[in-house]
This record gives sequence, structure tokens and C-alpha cells, in this order.
Amino acid sequence: MTDAPLSHSGDVSPDAWSGVHRGPLRAGEWVRLVDGKGRKHNFELVPGKRFFSNKGHLEHDELIGREEGFAVTSSVGGEYLVFRPLLSEFVVSMPRGAAVVYPKDSAQIIAMADIFPGAHVVEAGVGSGALTCSLLRAVGPHGRVSSYERREEFADVARRNVTQFFGGDHPAWALTLGDLAEELPASGERCDRIILDMLAPWDCLEAAADALLPGGIVCAYVATTTQLSKFVEAVRVHGGFTEPAPWESLVRDWHVEGLAVRPGHKMIGHTAFLVTARRMAPGERAPLKKRRPAPGAYGPDYTGPRPPGVPETPAAD
Ligand SMILES: C[S@@+](CC[C@H](N)C(=O)[O-])C[C@H]1O[C@@H](n2cnc3c(N)ncnc32)[C@H](O)[C@@H]1O
Repeated sequence: MTDAPLSHSGDVSPDAWSGVHRGPLRAGEWVRLVDGKGRKHNFELVPGKRFFSNKGHLEHDELIGREEGFAVTSSVGGEYLVFRPLLSEFVVSMPRGAAVVYPKDSAQIIAMADIFPGAHVVEAGVGSGALTCSLLRAVGPHGRVSSYERREEFADVARRNVTQFFGGDHPAWALTLGDLAEELPASGERCDRIILDMLAPWDCLEAAADALLPGGIVCAYVATTTQLSKFVEAVRVHGGFTEPAPWESLVRDWHVEGLAVRPGHKMIGHTAFLVTARRMAPGERAPLKKRRPAPGAYGPDYTGPRPPGVPETPAAD
């Protein structure tokens, strides 16, 4: 069976601010070429320009005007697949200032922190702007993403990446230079969701609690177990949130070929831990956990903050 000609209703509406285009590839757009070994090359289409690799060259003009999803052959016989990059591909290939939130975790954040069209989301730090792109996609042009970043050089990288992905200044995005713990209270912003991706998210908990609307969600993304412990205990001690839910996700691909159906050799194992908790209404406190902590959990060696109802343990002799 041959493929029927595609019928499409033109480009995606620019009002959607999706960062996606349909239709023939245009000059000024980014494309992603993948060779037979899976090597990827991303570049902007410029009329008259040549793309060079260890497999010779290709004229950009050979690509411009074609519907994405085709194979081309370079001057010395290298084969490449040509598509527009997906958001998940863009964020792992764009220039980086700080480490990015990987797509598997952005997906978890969007789902588990319940980011919705029209939401008002606060995030810090903006780093390279990877998570920002996913948040803006999810809230859409009628929502708002307020990003805080305390390092100017990272804010500049993020601004370039986000603007490149969406093809202009996204109307729902505001980027503030400074520390969230100081700038968020000063702004008077109230929000539905707060995402903290930084070394010390507990330092921003008070500001987050004051800005979150009742029922809102705080979500932290932390790389180490010590950060995870400190943040979870800080949320418990604060008292204005529900019991924090910590987790991580592991993604394993599969090799499927004839009778050889088995897990792939590589997997995306640890990237970071996620924690979410919901904001209680003003003056309300979540009921204390009925289950007692595991023996020794807050024993003499524990030095962090103690949740309400957990007594000090006398030091062992
Ligand atoms: C790991 S990066 C964030 C990566 C980003 N989420 C992304 O997906 O590209 C952490 C960033 O948080 C910033 N940062 C740390 N503490 C901060 C704070 N209290 N307020 C604002 N930014 C902060 C750092 O400067 C750094 O750029």
C-alpha cells in the first residue's frame, strides 16, 4: 500500500505558542539530522548555506521546501533522516549554562505537579530554560510562567533558548533576575504551582508558601539524597503543606528484534528526585501522620529539623 497524500490544514496557529510548525520546511527554522549511527546534528536552515559533517556536505536548499520526515544523501553517500526537532530533542541539544531538567523529569513535573492551561506557575532557577519550555507549553498563552534566576549569565542563555524554541517572546513568560527567596515576596505574585530546581530549595520554602494559593502545589527537583531529606523535613516542619510525596522515575528502553526481546543495555537511571506537596489554606494544618516513624529514623544521629510530634532522642552514651 502506498501512503495517501497528506492533507493538513496549514501551519499550527501562531496564537498557540507551541513552538511547532507544520508544512514544508522554511528558511530560519531548525532541523535535526540523524545519521545511520544515531549521531544528531541540529542547525538552522539558511538559503545558500551548506551543512558539513564527516560524511561530506548537504545544501540547505535541498531541505528547504520539503515536508519533514525524509531521508537525504550527502555528497559522499552519508544518509540522514530529516525532521524538525521535538521539544524533548531540542532541550538536550540546545546550548547550556546550568544542567537541564531531562525530558523524563519534565514530563513527570507537568503531570504530577498538575500544570494546566491557564495556570500561573513560578519556577526557579531558570538555568538553561529547558523546564521553562515545557512549562510554557503546558500553561499556554493564557497562563503565566514567572521564572527567577539569580545568575545573569544563565538567565541570558535561558532567554536565548526559550526565544529560539518558541520563535519569539512567549507572551506568558516573565523572567526576573534575582533570588526567588527575595524577589518573589517583593513581587506580590500569587500562583498555582511552584517548581524549585536549585541546590537549596528549603531556603525558598517560606516564600513559596506565602505565594501559593490554597490547594497549590510546590514541587522540588533535587539531585542528592541529602537534599531530598532536607527538603522533605523542611516541608513537614513548615506545617502549611500536606505530607510531601518523594519519588524518582527510571526509564528503560527495550530491544525488540525477532526473538531477541529484552531490556536495552542502557537506561536513564538516576537524574534527580522529585517531591510534591499541596498548600493548605491559611491557618490550616495537615493532620499529623498516624504512623510512627521507623525506629531510629530520628534517632541520636539525626541532626535535621524534627517534624511536629517527633520528640528529641537523648544522645547515646
Ligand atoms: C540546575 S539549574 C536549573 C535548570 C533549569 N531548571 C533547566 O531545566 O534548564 C539551577 C539554577 O538555579 C539557580 N538558582 C539557585 N538558587 C536560586 C534561587 N534561590 N533563586 C533563583 N535562582 C536560583 C542557579 O543559578 C542555577 O542556574
